[in-house]
Amino acid sequence: MAFISDDLYNDICMANDIVDYASSFMSLKKSGKSYMACCPFHNEKTPSFHIDRDKQLFHCFGCGASGNFVQFVMRMEGLDYRDAIRFLADRAGITIPENGIRQSTKLTQRKDAIYEMNKIAARFFFDTLMDPEKGRMGRKYFNERKLSRKTIIKFGLGYASDSYDALLKHLKSKGYNESQIVDAGLAVTRRNNTVDKFRNRVMFPIINVRGKVIGFGGRVLGSNTAPDGFKLAKYLNTPETPVFDKGSNLFALNLAKNSNASDLILCEGYMDVITVHQAGIDNVVATLGTAITDPQAKLMLRYGREILICYDMDEAGTKAALRAIDIISGAGGRSRVIRIKGAKDPDEFITKYGVAGFKKAIELAVPSTEFRLSLIKGKYDLNDTDGKIRFVDEAAQILSTIDNPVEVEAYIKKTASDTGISEQSVFGKYTELRSKNRRRSSIRTREAFKRREVSKINREKLPEERVTDTVIEAEKRLLSIMSQSKRLCLKANRIMKPEEYSNKVYAALARRMAEYAERGEQPDASVILNEFSGVPEDENTAAAVFFNTEVYANTDKTLFDLIYTIKQNKLDAMINASEDPGEIAELIDEKNHLTKERLDWNRDEKETDGDAL
Ligand code: CTP
Ligand code: MN
Repeated sequence: MAFISDDLYNDICMANDIVDYASSFMSLKKSGKSYMACCPFHNEKTPSFHIDRDKQLFHCFGCGASGNFVQFVMRMEGLDYRDAIRFLADRAGITIPENGIRQSTKLTQRKDAIYEMNKIAARFFFDTLMDPEKGRMGRKYFNERKLSRKTIIKFGLGYASDSYDALLKHLKSKGYNESQIVDAGLAVTRRNNTVDKFRNRVMFPIINVRGKVIGFGGRVLGSNTAPDGFKLAKYLNTPETPVFDKGSNLFALNLAKNSNASDLILCEGYMDVITVHQAGIDNVVATLGTAITDPQAKLMLRYGREILICYDMDEAGTKAALRAIDIISGAGGRSRVIRIKGAKDPDEFITKYGVAGFKKAIELAVPSTEFRLSLIKGKYDLNDTDGKIRFVDEAAQILSTIDNPVEVEAYIKKTASDTGISEQSVFGKYTELRSKNRRRSSIRTREAFKRREVSKINREKLPEERVTDTVIEAEKRLLSIMSQSKRLCLKANRIMKPEEYSNKVYAALARRMAEYAERGEQPDASVILNEFSGVPEDENTAAAVFFNTEVYANTDKTLFDLIYTIKQNKLDAMINASEDPGEIAELIDEKNHLTKERLDWNRDEKETDGDAL
């Protein structure tokens, strides 16, 4: 759907040229009418990527990637359609008129003002840094950190002088008022007094893939402890603003996206990124002072085939790396870990071991699985039988989460040879855990069994992976029947309490339906479903109950059969799970009782036979 007129769209495309755009980050060779290069969308050594200048189209004969100019920009810059158009408009200096955009114009104006103020501020901090007088302290600091002038310019680094209103005054002179400046996060108001947010700090602008300054990180000069013992935050970051979301942007991605490298290196600190970049390695980014998020992982995976995690090697860094591995794999990507031995962070590593040392460390980056295995290996004594067993258990646990069979096999072999335990045994442990995982993942809600009512036995003991698909399916059908009949709803509720359902969604549905039935009303599906809004998984689970349109010949009988199936399956699972003979005996007792109860239900059913739904 167009959000700008066709005319404007054409103007924007005409004012840009796909070859011109592409050649700013890839080396194109002219061949006949088309331009060729190695494809940016897959890994190749001989060029099969073609650009047709006349038609303004791209096509890769290798991987099949193909499209028009806007689609090319969308993929390269990781932008959606609208932002790709904006990007191209910006690039050509075309302003998209407000009426050409379907968006709240108030918010757009507010955002545009913030972008503009940020740009002015970045320029101001840079100019201050370069000013012979005002910038002396900042230059001295960067000098100590061995940053070249070229690097400073490339990252647009700057300095906020030790003044309460230098930037405020400057922005006011450009026509912005205090509340706008505070809105951009560049000033703060304290006791009716508005002052610059960043004072006496070196400044790191944070620039998004569209090339806009969205915020800043400001670092204290040197140590963050003043002579009088007063501690300053080492870094101050721009607060969340309409254009700055710490969880969905990355530092230096604006530069890294143009790298020729196929992978992306993820560091912890701004200074790490800058030092690594200065060393000639340009595919490097950092999060913005927070742990990596899912949107950040997805964003990185648009630009890097694999993510090379390069965190500090201390305990906190290791924990953060494990978390990053998890988030990246959750986002569908692969990661490796760069080990920086003998230095606290990549910055120090490069200073100590040079670029060659760092390049070597990149080459030696270990796949995330190997990293995880090596960490647990450190926990156990592999010369000791017990240590071996526990190591294999934990290793199998890690392997059971991997989907690639070749990878699994390789690590099973390795685990076997590390411990001297046979590959068959390791494999056995792996398959056992694997099938458990699979069962577990078939359960939609994690709350399963946690809130069941206890009759005689403490049912909390039933592990959640024991909730079988049979039980889930039976509960779903039971709830469907209940949703169709007040009478059956009340009946079912007497025999099976809401707490007895295996997940919280079903429990809530049973409870709500019973409330309607008690008032003599038919349950209102659309009202009930609102309760699950916001958790898509729960919404799906709940809606599926109402969408079930099965017709049951004898609903009373079906109802009792279902309840019996549910209760009996649960008891069986508990019997299997229990290791306490006394408890097992009690459970068997309960099961016999259940079978008897069922006969009563059936009698009950005969009496009410013929009742309409
Ligand atoms: N950070 C933050 N606030 C702090 C400390 C750190 O936001 N008070 C964030 C910054 O994004 C920083 C990153 O966490 O870049 C990593 O912290 P650290 O390793 O301490 O920072 P470096 O950038 O490596 O700084 P330096 O080498 O100068 O100590
Ligand atoms: Mn550092």
